[in-house]
Amino acid sequence: MRKNIVAGNWKMNKTLQEGIALAKELDGALASEKQNCDVIICTPFIHLASVTPLVNPVKIGVGAENCADKESGAYTGEVSAAMVASTGAKYVILGHSERRAYYHETVEILDAKVKLALTHGLTPIFCIGEVLEEREANKQNEVVATQLASVFSLSKEDFSKIVLAYEPVWAIGTGKTASPAQAQEIHAFIRSLVAEKYGKEVADDCSILYGGSCKPSNAKELFANPDVDGGLIGGAALSVADFKGIIDAFN
Ligand code: PGA
Repeated sequence: MRKNIVAGNWKMNKTLQEGIALAKELDGALASEKQNCDVIICTPFIHLASVTPLVNPVKIGVGAENCADKESGAYTGEVSAAMVASTGAKYVILGHSERRAYYHETVEILDAKVKLALTHGLTPIFCIGEVLEEREANKQNEVVATQLASVFSLSKEDFSKIVLAYEPVWAIGTGKTASPAQAQEIHAFIRSLVAEKYGKEVADDCSILYGGSCKPSNAKELFANPDVDGGLIGGAALSVADFKGIIDAFN
């Protein structure tokens, strides 16, 4: 059975003290209720070691927003998958459009990162999605198929461990959301590609999250689609009221 997941992506926001306060507040807000989805928070690297022991691991999984494409060694400023895992974090966002666009992460780099994350027991949340011009040219299926192909080098067993996130770049941080119908259409297409490659069972079990200006007011409609298994949340993950509003879309 695939999981419903609401994952927050804090991006480059919050000082350590603010991040600790946000994590504590979220932990408190979720303490007394049962959630109908897995909840994950992906934080800047420096927050991980402090935030991980603060939250109830049964309620909240913690993840990084990136990891290095090398195992270890002379790579000044990088943080390895092993280091992320050593904090108790269980997830890592990889292939986010901001990393692809601003830090020039190529298919080869992402391939190395995904494999290292899996080697160190982290669950990659692998992001794919088209830019506005590609959507306007009706090329979104082609684009996501190409991006997805970079994780299709994984064995069936390894692919079964990853979470996918469809994030149309034109919807990220813009206030423009894909319509529920647009989301369902492309999520179903993504699942069909997974089925072609790994078979129906793997495809049925694969969680495919939607990301891009998801908020409490549109989450329920988006998540009601059969192929939308939750969300990857940026801006709205920085407020407990908004993030919880999205989590509650599954209640
Ligand atoms: P947003 O970001 O919710 O602020 O649009 C989503 C993301 O980039 O993961």
